[in-house]
Amino acid sequence: MLIDTDPGVDDAMAILMAHERAHVVGLSVAAGNVGLNHTLANALKLIEVIGAETPVYAGCATPLVHAAEDAADVHGSDGFGDTGYAASARAAESEHAALAILRASHAHAGRLVLVALAPLTNLALALKLDPDLPLRVARLVVMGGAVSGRGNYGTVPAEFNVGFDPEAAHVVFSQWPQFTLVDWEATMRHGLDFDRFEAMLAKGDARAKFYASITEKTRAWSKERGRPKLLIADALAMAVALEPDIVTHSEEHHVAVELDGRLTRGATVVDWQDRLGQPANARIVLEVDHARFEALLASAVGST
Ligand code: RIB
Ligand code: CA
Repeated sequence: MLIDTDPGVDDAMAILMAHERAHVVGLSVAAGNVGLNHTLANALKLIEVIGAETPVYAGCATPLVHAAEDAADVHGSDGFGDTGYAASARAAESEHAALAILRASHAHAGRLVLVALAPLTNLALALKLDPDLPLRVARLVVMGGAVSGRGNYGTVPAEFNVGFDPEAAHVVFSQWPQFTLVDWEATMRHGLDFDRFEAMLAKGDARAKFYASITEKTRAWSKERGRPKLLIADALAMAVALEPDIVTHSEEHHVAVELDGRLTRGATVVDWQDRLGQPANARIVLEVDHARFEALLASAVGST
């Protein structure tokens, strides 16, 4: 598995989950939730907390075309809750993330699972460098979009990972024949009860303690905004990547990205009736087994 990520606290849970159950060959890091300097430092710190040797690759510092606002309000200025953690002693590899994605696709041809948890800038770049990339990747799971227009960033229908770099999402959605899409609306349907989640962390190991510290701000922010549940998008996408049979309801349709609409830039437009006759490029996850999802979270932080 190779994870493209902009840590970010929900990315962090996904990375913990992956290291619990998969062979992670690398983290390719993008800008998004916060600037690349912070997302890279956070990725290196998390690998150190996990005690893994996973290589970390720095990717693009900006979206492909237009500048975009980050999500520091959700994740903290440093992307990990502004805890002032001691920086990791580890360093990123010298190879660019887009090139690392291509190299991993050759090294693990036919077996590599790509999990995209960030704006799709790195993956779009890799695709432009080598359009045959999808032929060597077993599965691509994307956390992104809002398939019925209930977004969370920029325009009403846009979700952060797509809305931050719509051109990159357009490149991936239009050049990748079939991928799995875990969107923001599925994330909202699979929100976590705050008390249950905090009790889970309290019973966990060192990973749980680190996770509790970096999410203090996000949990407070969510409660202040009156969110009834903790929404942890990347962890849901990772659950689907780790256990595809966790999905209890999905539909396959064509999805495209709006690039120009004044009210709709960044929207993921689904042809639910397949009216335009374009090939279904996305398997849209609509529901998962929630108990199994929560079990994966608990296992990732050593909470039995
Ligand atoms: O919309 C949720 C997505 O945007 C998640 O990947 C979160 O980490 C943010 O990047
Ligand atoms: Ca993310």
